[in-house]
Amino acid sequence: MLILAIETSCDETSAAVIKDGRKILSNVVASSVSLHKKTGGIIPERAAREQLKSIIPVIETAMENGKCKMENIDCIATTTGPGLIGSLLVGVETAKTLSLIWNKPLVPVNHLIGHIYANWLKPDSPTSRHPDIPYLPAIALVVSGGHTDLVLMKDHAKLEWLGGTRDDAAGEAFDKTARLLGLGYPGGPAIATEAAKWKTINDKWKMTLPRSLLNEDNFDFSFSGLKTAVLRETEKLKTNQLINQLTIPLLAYQVQEAITDVLVEKTLKAVKKYKVPTLLVAGGVAANSRLREKFLSSIHNSKFNIQFFVPPPPLCTDNATMIGAAAFYNYKPVPWQKVIANSGMTITDRQ
Ligand code: KG4
Ligand code: ZN
Repeated sequence: MLILAIETSCDETSAAVIKDGRKILSNVVASSVSLHKKTGGIIPERAAREQLKSIIPVIETAMENGKCKMENIDCIATTTGPGLIGSLLVGVETAKTLSLIWNKPLVPVNHLIGHIYANWLKPDSPTSRHPDIPYLPAIALVVSGGHTDLVLMKDHAKLEWLGGTRDDAAGEAFDKTARLLGLGYPGGPAIATEAAKWKTINDKWKMTLPRSLLNEDNFDFSFSGLKTAVLRETEKLKTNQLINQLTIPLLAYQVQEAITDVLVEKTLKAVKKYKVPTLLVAGGVAANSRLREKFLSSIHNSKFNIQFFVPPPPLCTDNATMIGAAAFYNYKPVPWQKVIANSGMTITDRQ
């Protein structure tokens, strides 16, 4: 089955052609991130206006790169939420129009569930020890700019939400602390780059940032305390004129350690409790190499006998390939008249 998938939930405009839920025939991602770098964050109206310009060329290029014609496509899939409503509308209304004029079935996909399905795509991640298809049940950690969710995936379309963030998402914590450190947008990669410098500096200066809810008996997260702690530390350093090439990498390193410690520990607690054979990590923050490294070493050290999947970094951040994979494994076409962009829907709405 050939699926033309569309993803426009945030600032990316992406289209992909996916064969049988796993093979990527094409993947085109146009990002307006350079515009948002100037403003230090996404301005939804600007993102949607850029997407209006790029949606048709992106789809055309994805079809060309996949050597596909309209008649070869079996189905159209599109992200319907959660996301920025203006951005979602661009992809959803385009997908509905194509479904109508090409007379193809249309499958709506939840963006967060889409992230999880990036783990079904080939080629498998170089860090994955199992270049195979994930076995279910699985624990899935979805960590993105807007969400941090732990999910028990009993089967396709059988997801049970175990917990999530009570305030900021993990990606948001990276973005907001990066902003406090003057590192620009998006914050995750910027923090990771600075943190890597700290390793080479290897100074003895120690600092500990909070790891909220780490020892609580639940699967919830909280990152707003971390942001406040970084604000306090940066203010102290500014007062003492100590914001410099030593302290920024130190803070970035500590932020990355604090976020990744909590994500790994709580996720492995869920793996242990539900005794699942598979762990799936997904979403933009899953591109973080320290997080990937910590998962691998913790799984190894705790002698968990599980398959660990994390997509290659370009498939962790928003893209349409994951939407095509999710649509294949959850193939439920909906008449185009009934498909609506819904900015607020979450994994919990899909149980
Ligand atoms: O999944 P995604 O592309 O968009 C949303 O659905 O939100 O995730 C974007 C988030 C941003 O917060 C960004 O800072 C974070 O993922 N991110 C990273 C890395 N790359 C992207 N966070 C940490 N380390 C990275 N290498
Ligand atoms: Zn996303």
